[in-house]
Amino acid sequence: MKPVTQNTQAFDDWLRGRFVELNSRLESLYRQQADRANVAGIGDTEKQQLEEEGRVLIQALLEEGNTDQGFDSAFDLLGNVGLYMAACRRHEITEPSRETRSPLVEASALAMHIGASIGVTPRFATAHLTTHNRAHNGLYKRFTDLPAEKLFVDYNTKGILAYKRAADALLKIEPLGISHPISHDLLRVAKQALQEVIDSNTYLFNALDADDFFYCVRPYYKPYRVGSVVYRGANAGDFAGINVIDLLLGLCAANEPSYSQMLVDKFLYMMPEDQLILRDCMRRTSLMDDFLAAGEQRDQDWYRHNLALFLEVCELHGQTAIQHHNQLVEKYIAEPAQKMEQQHLDKVTASGPPLQLLLDSLEKLKDRRAALPRSDIHTRYHDLQQLKATLG
Ligand code: HEM
Repeated sequence: MKPVTQNTQAFDDWLRGRFVELNSRLESLYRQQADRANVAGIGDTEKQQLEEEGRVLIQALLEEGNTDQGFDSAFDLLGNVGLYMAACRRHEITEPSRETRSPLVEASALAMHIGASIGVTPRFATAHLTTHNRAHNGLYKRFTDLPAEKLFVDYNTKGILAYKRAADALLKIEPLGISHPISHDLLRVAKQALQEVIDSNTYLFNALDADDFFYCVRPYYKPYRVGSVVYRGANAGDFAGINVIDLLLGLCAANEPSYSQMLVDKFLYMMPEDQLILRDCMRRTSLMDDFLAAGEQRDQDWYRHNLALFLEVCELHGQTAIQHHNQLVEKYIAEPAQKMEQQHLDKVTASGPPLQLLLDSLEKLKDRRAALPRSDIHTRYHDLQQLKATLG
């Protein structure tokens, strides 16, 4: 990364120190209430300090203009502005349903300038906190010093990187073809990586406290306004790898309307390099279709070895989706939401739609990935049955 300007450095230092201190203090004040979800009328001094101190630092950056420090610095600065805006939204210094434009005028201007110039959404995205979050002396950027937040971000990063390893291996099969002996090695890498997603999610599920996550971590991932537009919250799915796996395995299809809608909506939340990979993948045929077309070679050794492993990879990908839905989403979103006071319920999801709608669409995604038989949506259940039958 190129050296950053003094103003950028000052903002980054503030964000890694004072910002975390103020958010953590506010969290401890909210926590002392009977209704932990309430933030109104609590910690007004800290909220004002947060808003004001951030605004002064951002004003200096805005006046500095485009100093062309390269993509990495620009992306990093956008993340810092985004963390500040997300914290203001968490403490309801801003609230999208109350306003038509963000009152954070300077932050919005800087975020839009950077986002548009580097081809990403003008808000903080998952990559800023996970895969592209540089640690200084062992500490990476965070909102608070709460152990629940660190645990969540650590295990999001592990999960994302493991999915990416699986996706990278599957991408390398394309030029080799399904009958290539080394494609077997690549399928084994994908299988191992998906098993690592499962192990990492299992750890998170056992270790993360549901209330701490729901009341002190998740609220920083809510939608907020940049200028006049509300941008949905960040979620761990905003990287290409998960969809690369869906598409290359053939469990989901880019020409299926609800799936392609999801891809279209997430493009700008991904790093530009991920956008390129995903676009490329949307044009390719799937490994499942290649195996279905190779049925006449069912007695060949390569077919039996590679197909058996391919089926295991599909099975594991389905298991990661089932685990995400039945464990993580259920324990950390659906169950606490049921207990939450009605007045806060409309603000539960990161992306904004009512919770039940979100859960239904996540369930469909899970069932496609797990290739379950469903009469209302297309899944690859029958195709997988046909492939299994060729192995006898
Ligand atoms: C999306 C919950 C951890 C992968 C989502 C969504 C929710 C959610 C509610 C929908 C986002 C929205 O629009 O509001 C959770 C919870 C987690 C967790 C409560 C842990 C406490 C993870 C981890 C991964 C992951 C560790 C692994 C990389 C994804 C993916 C999506 C997603 C890929 C996008 C939708 C999809 O393609 O399935 N998550 N998640 N999540 N999450 Fe998680």
